[in-house]
Amino acid sequence: MKPELTLHQRTLTLTRFPVRKNETLQAWDAADEYLINHCHSMALEPQRPILILNDNFGALSCWFAEQGQVTTVTDSFITQQAIINNLNDNNLPAITIIDCLADLPTNPQLVLIKQPKNNRLLSWQLQQLCHLLPADCVVISAGKVKDIHSSTLKLFEKYLGETKTSLAVKKARLIFTTVDKSLAAPMPQPTTWTVPEHDLTITNYANVFSSDSLDIGGRFLLDFIPSKPQYQDIIDLGCGNGVIGIKAARLNPQANVTCVDESFMAAASCRENAQINLNNIDKFDVMVANCLDNFTNQSADLVLCNPPFHQNNTITDHIAWQMFCDAQRVLRQNGELIIIGNRQLKYHEKLNRIFTKVDTIGNNDKFVVLKATK
Ligand SMILES: C[S@@+](CC[C@H](N)C(=O)[O-])C[C@H]1O[C@@H](n2cnc3c(N)ncnc32)[C@H](O)[C@@H]1O
Repeated sequence: MKPELTLHQRTLTLTRFPVRKNETLQAWDAADEYLINHCHSMALEPQRPILILNDNFGALSCWFAEQGQVTTVTDSFITQQAIINNLNDNNLPAITIIDCLADLPTNPQLVLIKQPKNNRLLSWQLQQLCHLLPADCVVISAGKVKDIHSSTLKLFEKYLGETKTSLAVKKARLIFTTVDKSLAAPMPQPTTWTVPEHDLTITNYANVFSSDSLDIGGRFLLDFIPSKPQYQDIIDLGCGNGVIGIKAARLNPQANVTCVDESFMAAASCRENAQINLNNIDKFDVMVANCLDNFTNQSADLVLCNPPFHQNNTITDHIAWQMFCDAQRVLRQNGELIIIGNRQLKYHEKLNRIFTKVDTIGNNDKFVVLKATK
């Protein structure tokens, strides 16, 4: 796989984050190329902001970095790191990178949106833009043809303004929207629901995993969280809204609990949920990170994990594998990793490669809960 994107006599070297040996996946897609080609002949004002939403690994941020005051908005720590690395590798100037809950710069001339996987995030972002954008701002979105449904276009019409689509090129399509300020409405509140059997009230920002209800995997894992007086340090890896880490903190009040996610909205939800559901948050910490990068070796007694099986729009098990390897490194001797997975994912085989002992501690028609001991 060649890491060079060449368009209009210009070449960028672009890699994903984290960089993997023998990477088979490109750091850009046909929708990025379509957006770049479409904007190529545009006269852009050097001093007026360009906003880029949901860039994957920085193709758009790098391409436009020298063409205006670029601000990239992403909910992903991994995307942030990829953008920083790719800007450096291509000797491009720094741009502003913010998360989806930060204030956007005013009076942008151009907004480029990569269609996110999650329609709740898209709706939230369109409503945010409707408040902010001047009527002369050009708004172009892009995505895979198979992901752009009439229901997607209705969201653009409902929250931002009149919307048209382009022809498909290499299975990608552009979406053009004319800003209609009369559609601006109060921003929606995060969704909140309860888990009565565990006495939890959980609130979720738009991009949080399973934000409309408790994930069935997460629900099953809740019943297998141990309580042991010897636990000093517990990690909820890939914490989402924090439901697992919060339950672990209740069952083990003596332990420090650290929740980790690569989504800024997940981390924000987890912090709010800890405030709502725990009497004491002194021993509860939330971090935005890629897996357990920068965690000290042999520093935890228990890692709990409901691993992801996709990155942006790509289905992959490499993140789960990195989480298992990181947990193995970060656990103390006799430390435990407890995970939940779909039966067919065969996480048992993976864990057996790196842990001394792997036991099945729960199962139902769909899931297994495994405990791997170091
Ligand atoms: C299946 S969800 C589990 C969420 C929550 N623990 C639950 O049980 O409902 C997996 C979580 O892992 C997070 N994640 C994905 N890649 C990650 C990475 N590289 N580092 C840290 N977290 C990641 C996702 O944002 C998501 O919140």
